[in-house]
Amino acid sequence: MRTQVGIVGAGPAGLLLGRLLWLQGIESIVIETRSREYVESRVRAGVLEQGTVDILNEAGVGERMRRQGLVHHGIELSFRGRRHRVNMHELTGGRAITVYGQTEVVKDLIGARLDAGAEIFFEVDDVSVHGFDGESPKIRFRWAGEEREITCDFIAGCDGSHGVCRESIPEGALTVYERTYPFGWLGVLAESKPPSEELIYCHHERGFALFSMRSPQITRLYVQCDPHEEISTWPDDRIWGELETRLDAGGDLALKEGPIIQKGVTPMRSFVVEPMQYGRMFLAGDAAHIVPPTGAKGLNLAAADVRSLSRAFGDYYRAGKTEMLERYSQICLRRVWRAEHFSWWMTSLLHRFPDATPFQRRIQLAELEYVANSRAAATALAENYVGLPFTE
Ligand code: FAD
Ligand code: DHB
Repeated sequence: MRTQVGIVGAGPAGLLLGRLLWLQGIESIVIETRSREYVESRVRAGVLEQGTVDILNEAGVGERMRRQGLVHHGIELSFRGRRHRVNMHELTGGRAITVYGQTEVVKDLIGARLDAGAEIFFEVDDVSVHGFDGESPKIRFRWAGEEREITCDFIAGCDGSHGVCRESIPEGALTVYERTYPFGWLGVLAESKPPSEELIYCHHERGFALFSMRSPQITRLYVQCDPHEEISTWPDDRIWGELETRLDAGGDLALKEGPIIQKGVTPMRSFVVEPMQYGRMFLAGDAAHIVPPTGAKGLNLAAADVRSLSRAFGDYYRAGKTEMLERYSQICLRRVWRAEHFSWWMTSLLHRFPDATPFQRRIQLAELEYVANSRAAATALAENYVGLPFTE
């Protein structure tokens, strides 16, 4: 098989890249190790920045998001038993976020790709990438029991944090920057009405909790836990009990219990590789960088990467220009590091660190008070949360 861009991974990065290329008349083939059902039901992120919403709308895949997405103008911070609203809309000159699940973004992108007659090979095995230091890269894999090979001009490594693309770049060519946190998030999806119309981020002496949602009937909840926590040690009663305790916000909010329909533990990590490219291979999304989920940046960074990459490929195929492809990493990494800092900061502000001294805990509270009471500090949170504008 031959194509222009071979895309490894059908997560948000690979699928959105495929769509943005298709709109420019650039051919691609997407390969994915998991089944369509699996990628469409993998519960992960839920907050879309304004810029991500704009990209999805411009890509012609925003119709259901416009109907079903929940536009939020603020978030709440809860600490010391009180809630404080950060009015993001007012602080950012009218910007907002949209709550719309990653599962739905993925379904919309797969639907659009298949409607357009473009290819995705699901359930592939033994993926390997070759020749990307030369002119004619190749992707090899097995599909339906047969060996296959794609010859392409470029490989887009959109295969997430445990994929093969980054690992195939020669040792020494990449520098890794990394930090792991001594906690994880236990995330659940429950059939119950969210306790508030907006998201609530809770700092509590027992640990962080987050009250989010997927719809007015489905709530998405997270509690800070041990990163290696056995899910079996968290029966539903324990989860609801911890959520109730950590919501502790003045008694005006009722947490409604309901059937828990999904549970999982996510360890937390900050990770960046530099550069995000090698020869004719370009990494995008989680393949190149991971953020702890506290600032809701993972999916949004993936969208920003492929926006730049699709423009760079556009320049190349339309006008033979390589300048933007050469600068791809440089363009992405500015935004990546801004989001890395913001996610680290939100994580540090809101979680209980097992080794924190009483002094460090007071410093955390002092910073929360500052964000809650200073327009300048709240503006810094708001403009990062809604997402900074794209610069190029
Ligand atoms: P992925 O979504 O990981 O997609 C990569 C795809 O490549 C996958 O479909 C994978 O199956 C496929 N793949 C892997 N290896 C191969 C291979 N060898 N060949 C072919 N295909 C391959 N972000 C938030 O903002 N908020 C959250 O609450 C949140 N929760 C998360 C929970 C978990 C468990 C994880 C892992 C991430 C979470 N994130 C969250 C981050 C966010 O979901 C990611 O940043 C986002 O999915 C990145 O998209 P991606 O396309 O780069 O990577
Ligand atoms: C969600 C996830 C996040 O990481 C976050 O900061 C806010 C919301 C969510 O899944 O709804």
